Amino acid sequence: MRAVQVKIEETDFRKVEKAVSKAVALIRKGLPKERVVRSIKAKGLILSPDDVYEVARCRIKAREKFGELADNLFFDEEGLRYSTPKVVAEYRAKRLKCDVIADVSCGVGGQLLFFATHCKKVYGVEINPKRAIIAALNAMALELNNIEIIAGDALGEEVPVLVRDADIIFSDPARPPGEEIRTIDSLEPNPLRIVEKYSHTTDRIAFELPPQMPPGRVDRWLKGEKEYTSLNFKLNRLALYMGGLADCDVSAISLPSEERVTSEDEAVEIDVASRIGSFIYEVDPAVVKAGLVANLIGKIGLQAEIVKGDKRRTLLTSDGEVKSAFLRRYKVVDVVSFGVEPIRKALRKAGAGKVTLRFSLPPSEYWSVRKKLENGLEGDRWVYLFRIGDSAVIAEPTC
Ligand SMILES: C[S@@+](CC[C@H](N)C(=O)[O-])C[C@H]1O[C@@H](n2cnc3c(N)ncnc32)[C@H](O)[C@@H]1O
Repeated sequence: MRAVQVKIEETDFRKVEKAVSKAVALIRKGLPKERVVRSIKAKGLILSPDDVYEVARCRIKAREKFGELADNLFFDEEGLRYSTPKVVAEYRAKRLKCDVIADVSCGVGGQLLFFATHCKKVYGVEINPKRAIIAALNAMALELNNIEIIAGDALGEEVPVLVRDADIIFSDPARPPGEEIRTIDSLEPNPLRIVEKYSHTTDRIAFELPPQMPPGRVDRWLKGEKEYTSLNFKLNRLALYMGGLADCDVSAISLPSEERVTSEDEAVEIDVASRIGSFIYEVDPAVVKAGLVANLIGKIGLQAEIVKGDKRRTLLTSDGEVKSAFLRRYKVVDVVSFGVEPIRKALRKAGAGKVTLRFSLPPSEYWSVRKKLENGLEGDRWVYLFRIGDSAVIAEPTC
C-alpha cells in the first residue's frame, strides 16, 4: 500500500462529530442499531453510517478507560480494546519525551495523543486506513496540531523515509488474541523487522511487548531494558527500551505511584519462612514477572522471608512494617490449622464478619467456600484468609 498523510478538513471533522454525538444520544435512548444507522445521513461524511454507529458505541464504552476524555474521542472496536490506558500512556510519554517521536503502529492513537503533549512533533503510522482516519480525528478533537498521521505500512519502503527526522521510534504491535505462549513472531508489525528498518534512523527504539513474556525470552530476540508495568497491582504492560533509552537490564514500575525497582538495586537473599511473622506481604505480579523480588526487598530494606505454598501469588512474611506500592501489607490476626472448624472458631474469636479468600481454589467454588466460612459470623471486621502449607492465616489489610 502507498503511504499517505491523512488530512481532514475542519468541516468534515465537524460533520462526523455531529453524526457521532447524535448516534450516542440515540443509542443511550435505547434505539436499535438499524434505526440509529438509518438516521445518519451518509452524504459528505468521511465515515460510513455503520462506522459512525461503531464509533458511537465505543465512545460510550470508552468512559471506563479514558474517563470524561472519551466523550470527545473516536474509536473502532479493536482500536478501543488495544488502546493504552490513560495512566500508562501518560507515564510512557514522560519517559520517551523527546523532540520528534514516531509511533509506527499507532492504532486509534491512545498512546499517540499523550506523546503529543510531551514531544514537539509526533508521527502516527497506521496500516488500517479507517483506523488512521480515526487517529487523525482524535488529534483534531484534542486540537493537537503537532500530530501527523500517515496511513501506511511501517515495514514498507516509504514510511521510514517520511519519519526519518524521528529521535525515537515507538511501536505497540498488534497481537493475536488467545495465543498460548507469547512470542515475537506473531506480533504485527514484527519488532525484529522494525529494528531492521529503522535502526539507521536511530538506536532509540521502544516497543510494547506481551507482558507475559519473561525477561529471558525477550533477550533471545531483542536487547534492552525490559520494564514491567503494574497498573493498580496488576501486570499491565511490558515495555522494551533499546539503545540509549535503556538504563538497566530489567525494571518494574508501579502506576499510578511511579515507584520503581530495577536490576541495579542490590538484591538480598530471601530465606524460606519457618514461621509466620507479624505481617504478610503480597508482592505485585509485575515485580514477580520481572524477577525483581530480591531487589525490591533489598531496596526497601525489609527483613522478610518467602512463604511457600500459594501457587497464584508470591507472599512474604516479616515482623517489619514497610510501605511500598509493590506490596500489599496485611497484619496477621491469627494462625490456625487449615480446616473449616478451626478457621470458623478463629474468625469468631477475631470478631470477623466478612472473609476474602486469598488462596488458590477453583473460581466456581469461591463463593460456596466463602459462604460456609462466613455463615453465622456476627462481627464487623473484614479479614483475609491465606493458606500457607497446612496453616490458615487470618489477616487484616493495613494501609
Ligand atoms: C495494539 S494496536 C496499537 C494501539 C495503540 N498503541 C493505542 O494505544 O491506541 C496495534 C496497531 O498496529 C497496526 N499495525 C499492524 N501492522 C502494522 C504495520 N505494518 N504498519 C503500521 N501499523 C500496523 C494495527 O492495525 C493496530 O491498529
